[in-house]
Amino acid sequence: MKEKKKFYVTTPIYYPSANFHIGHCYTTIIGDAIARYKRLCGYDVFYLTGTDEHGQKIQKKAEEAGVSPQEYVDKIVANAKDLWKTLNISYDKFIRTTDSEHVLCVQKIFKKLYDNGDIYKGVYKGLYCTPCESFWTETQLVDGKCPDCGREVSEVSEEAYFFKLSKYQDRLMKYYEDNPTFIEPQSRKNEMINNFIKPGLEDLCVSRTSFNWGIPVSFDDKHVVYVWLDALSNYISALGYLTENDDLFKKYWPCDLHIVGKEIVRFHTIVWPIMLMALDLPLPKKVFGHGWLVINGGKISKSIGNYKDPRNYVDTYGVDAVRYFVLREVPFGSDGSFSEDALINRTNGDLANILGNLVNRTIGMANKYFDGIIEDKKTSEDLDNKLKVEAIELKDKVDKYMEKLEISKALEVIFDLLRSCNKYIDDTMPWILAKDENKKDRLSTVLYNLMECIRIATVLLQAFIPDTASKIFYQINTNIISYDSISSFGGYESGNKVNKSEVLFQRVEYK
Ligand code: MSP
Repeated sequence: MKEKKKFYVTTPIYYPSANFHIGHCYTTIIGDAIARYKRLCGYDVFYLTGTDEHGQKIQKKAEEAGVSPQEYVDKIVANAKDLWKTLNISYDKFIRTTDSEHVLCVQKIFKKLYDNGDIYKGVYKGLYCTPCESFWTETQLVDGKCPDCGREVSEVSEEAYFFKLSKYQDRLMKYYEDNPTFIEPQSRKNEMINNFIKPGLEDLCVSRTSFNWGIPVSFDDKHVVYVWLDALSNYISALGYLTENDDLFKKYWPCDLHIVGKEIVRFHTIVWPIMLMALDLPLPKKVFGHGWLVINGGKISKSIGNYKDPRNYVDTYGVDAVRYFVLREVPFGSDGSFSEDALINRTNGDLANILGNLVNRTIGMANKYFDGIIEDKKTSEDLDNKLKVEAIELKDKVDKYMEKLEISKALEVIFDLLRSCNKYIDDTMPWILAKDENKKDRLSTVLYNLMECIRIATVLLQAFIPDTASKIFYQINTNIISYDSISSFGGYESGNKVNKSEVLFQRVEYK
């Protein structure tokens, strides 16, 4: 048997926060849709996500809550896992940076970098943003505040270890040049080059002594490893790097795709590749920096008061309404606006009116006119051929967009086919055909063509709205659902009997 091609995809490991919002779900739902799509295409996929549990911020929060940092994170991690379960996230591994395998791996990585001379000891004097766990120079501040989050920074001065980013600057630039699609979208690459590489990379402070909730440096344990060095290592520690059991690492590394939000592209396209170069490991093939979901043009946050637990939306509108919304609404790489009205718009407009309605009408007609039996009587008219061509071409179109990670466009073309089906019903007018005994074969073929188009679209929709796809397959009663089965028209079994139709999406009233 031919060995499957591998695909390793990751989403960031989250700071355990009790306040996961719809924006947080965005990265992980994208990762899930890509992982599911690649599995559908026949890849051997490994999808990694998890939690980033160390650092001063967590230590402070735990102190405020009167519990140990470990107790604090344990509770919140359970919340994160529950959220991913609610959203149908099909990760292959959930890594925690407090996992003992990860801790050991980070210690080995730090030691290796130190032994090779890429990490050295010095004194850190500078500015630190605790919420972002980021160091800044005076010139990088905006109005004296953290350029990422706009909050106050504090001055710190302490003995610390440094990582020689500067040594690798030219090699990194060359990697960008030799691999033009390493950073996507291109605008983010330009940002990295102009804002960070051209002004000159400074060595990075990679240890702290002013708090202790972190991974101790194995040979100097008053230092803990800087959280970003700790966090980035998860992508290889999760695969067993530097352990005896490194089969996953051998199989899946280098990573095919790191999906990250735009504000952490810097860590993934500068610090991470340089860590890998220093470890003499191959670099990831691509880092995709997506935009944010924003509310009224601004951030989603509890303090602003526009935060709602995403599980509320799932309870009200259904998991696939939420998944579909975030995948469809945010254009490639840019920011997208979230509001409950916009979510309702998509649910009513696309899911209820176009998809739900089509499935419901088609099954309803099959039951009404043919006792549920769908047969291809091979009558043919020009408008049939037009629809068939659109259906057969869909797979390649979706593939082209998914290859470029233009998920919103991929969904758009799937819905274009569904729209064409609704138009095909209007044009062929099955209810008129049903009045004429001589048109029975024609009516049967019309319904067959519709059913086959629904099947083709649903095979692809499995990657994006998996629950709904399963419901549709059940209603149209088929198990011909493989990717290969949609390369040509006619996979739906002629003579099949459909099940009763159930409403897939209720139309929702505006708030
Ligand atoms: N712990 C780091 C990642 C370390 S990866 C080695 C981190 N965590 S985070 O919890 O702050 O963010 C996790 C992901 O959520 C990031 O990709 C971030 O961009 C994303 N989002 C947080 N708010 C968002 C929106 N409002 N919209 C879209 N994505 C957003 O960063």
